[in-house]
Amino acid sequence: MIVLSFVLLSLVHISTAQIAGVVCLQIAASISSSSNVFLPGSLSYTSDIFHWASSSSDISACSVEPGTAADVGKILQIVGASRTPFAVKGGGHTANPGFSSTPGVHISMSRFSEVTYNATAQTATIGSGLVWDDVYAVLDPLNVTVVGGRFSGVGVAGYSLGGGYSWKSNLVGLTVDNIVGYELVLPNGTLTQVTATKNPDLFFGLKGGLNNFGIVTRFIFKTYPQGQIWGGLITYTVPNMAAVNQAVANFASSVTDPKAQIFSAYNGAVGVPIMAQMLYYDAPVLPPGIFDEFLSIPFVTKDAGTRSLSSFVRLFPTNITTGSRSIFDTVPVTRYTPAIVDAILNETTFWSARLAPFGGLAVSYNIEPFLPSAVPSTNPATAFPGSRTAGVALCPTNFFFLWLPATSDDIFHNAMHQSVAQIKALAIAEGVLGSSKYTNYAMFDTPLSDIYGQNVPRLQSIKKAVDPLNVMGLAGGFKF
Ligand SMILES: Cc1cc2nc3c(=O)[nH]c(=O)nc-3n(C[C@H](O)[C@H](O)[C@H](O)COP(=O)(O)OP(=O)(O)OC[C@H]3O[C@@H](n4cnc5c(N)ncnc54)[C@H](O)[C@@H]3O)c2cc1C
Ligand SMILES: *[C@@H]1O[C@H](CO)[C@@H](O)[C@H](O)[C@H]1NC(C)=O
Ligand SMILES: *[C@@H]1O[C@H](CO)[C@@H](O)[C@H](O)[C@H]1NC(C)=O
Ligand SMILES: *[C@@H]1O[C@H](CO)[C@@H](O)[C@H](O)[C@H]1NC(C)=O
Ligand SMILES: *[C@@H]1O[C@H](CO)[C@@H](O)[C@H](O)[C@H]1NC(C)=O
Ligand SMILES: *[C@@H]1O[C@H](CO)[C@@H](O)[C@H](O)[C@H]1NC(C)=O
Repeated sequence: MIVLSFVLLSLVHISTAQIAGVVCLQIAASISSSSNVFLPGSLSYTSDIFHWASSSSDISACSVEPGTAADVGKILQIVGASRTPFAVKGGGHTANPGFSSTPGVHISMSRFSEVTYNATAQTATIGSGLVWDDVYAVLDPLNVTVVGGRFSGVGVAGYSLGGGYSWKSNLVGLTVDNIVGYELVLPNGTLTQVTATKNPDLFFGLKGGLNNFGIVTRFIFKTYPQGQIWGGLITYTVPNMAAVNQAVANFASSVTDPKAQIFSAYNGAVGVPIMAQMLYYDAPVLPPGIFDEFLSIPFVTKDAGTRSLSSFVRLFPTNITTGSRSIFDTVPVTRYTPAIVDAILNETTFWSARLAPFGGLAVSYNIEPFLPSAVPSTNPATAFPGSRTAGVALCPTNFFFLWLPATSDDIFHNAMHQSVAQIKALAIAEGVLGSSKYTNYAMFDTPLSDIYGQNVPRLQSIKKAVDPLNVMGLAGGFKF
């Protein structure tokens, strides 16, 4: 069945591929020797089009690895003039099909791999082709960090252009609050530097606007001193789930130390829950009273203690699901009530049992309590609104299903809609529904207003000014 649908997919794409094939040759003839075009069958092509979720991959006519911003400009001019569908991929971790894949020209940013620390400015210039692991590997020995990803393998680019919930967010805000500049290739191919003073509209738009405004080649991040942290990963299962839920709800309602953060992954396979609990404290020594309840519950596995931030980021086995089909969606909440935590455990057991016969591997519901300080109302506005209401938090609960057969896609997408509706109705009843769905967790069919709220008109007018020919409309994603 999988093989058959794969063949059918390729047939449907032949005409686009043939047209794009000519465009690929045109690109190959135009770019400098720092860049390359690769065809299906080559190793570079295979790794270029690869995604963490196989449902986010597509068979493109070719892949291009630009090595300079000028070549990114040439590629955009060629695909724009020929109206060829294209994609831009950073770390390839989107769970939305078509957001960083295409049957046309696939652009991989992998050659933008710079990490340069400027101790005077307290900034780091970071290439858009990196994953966070690469960034931390360079910054760790310098005892500095940036407000980046919480898990291994995730790309800098999509994460940072969507919002960015980080282990340091309660202390200093989202990733978008901590980027001071962008090197951006505009949709017409012109290279520009975007800062708050040089181009306030694009500076606002890139803080959540994903690929609507062009292709980012480099980000300039604020850096922060970073020593060792206290962190752990503990797994629990039945019969301790009631105690676990209690601990999660108690933490969410009582801990206000911004150095403390938890990430509770309620995983289920065939109706059996296995909860993976990440505990983070942004100092080498854990003060008493923060995670006591979690530490006293009988566990399945436990790895906790003082370590580097980058080793903590590698602790969670994000790559065990690599290659399965996946979908994310989210119900934002202002806080996690005990009823919501209980309902999420119920969704975990319910849907993992219900979906198993359709090739379901597992479901995962991630409770992510954040303090209001993670979306600082005092900070400048950003495209992803976060909420930015004084004293109100925006916790981006992630719902995540994974399965194998492509023929089951609709079943899993529909189940996701039902599960989101179930928890959303409860969040409304409890008076805790958050104002915006998080860009990087929202499912592909989410209306723009559910993510960007009252920012939609401004984002649409910025988009119209910078991309009057809608070149970026040839790439998938949430479109202004
Ligand atoms: C295991 C896992 C853990 C995660 N953990 C977190 C977390 O802790 N916090 C959090 O906030 N999110 C998290 N996410 C969500 C994550 O932010 C998104 O998956 C994001 O899309 C990843 O970025 P990427 O570069 O890997 O994705 P890609 O699939 O490469 O790109 C995603 C989007 O960005 C666009 N894009 C990529 N590069 C560029 C560029 N150079 N210029 C313009 N547009 C570009 C693409 O076209 C696409 O629309 C996680 C996801 C996974 C799978
Ligand atoms: C580092 O930042 C300082 C202060 O902004 C600046 O003057 C200097 O040129 C930067 N150094 C490099 C190598 O870019
Ligand atoms: C980083 O911190 C460690 C431990 O305190 C120290 O030994 C090392 O010299 C520091 N490195 C730099 C570049 O400051
Ligand atoms: C997951 O990552 C680890 C560590 O980088 C690696 O050894 C392992 O092969 C990876 N597994 C998969 C399935 O990619
Ligand atoms: C468990 O979840 C299912 C699916 O959302 C729902 O139909 C059922 O009512 C829930 N049960 C409880 C006890 O909440
Ligand atoms: C490209 O677009 C930018 C922003 O709209 C504009 O300033 C610039 O003049 C354009 N360049 C060309 C060559 O048209």
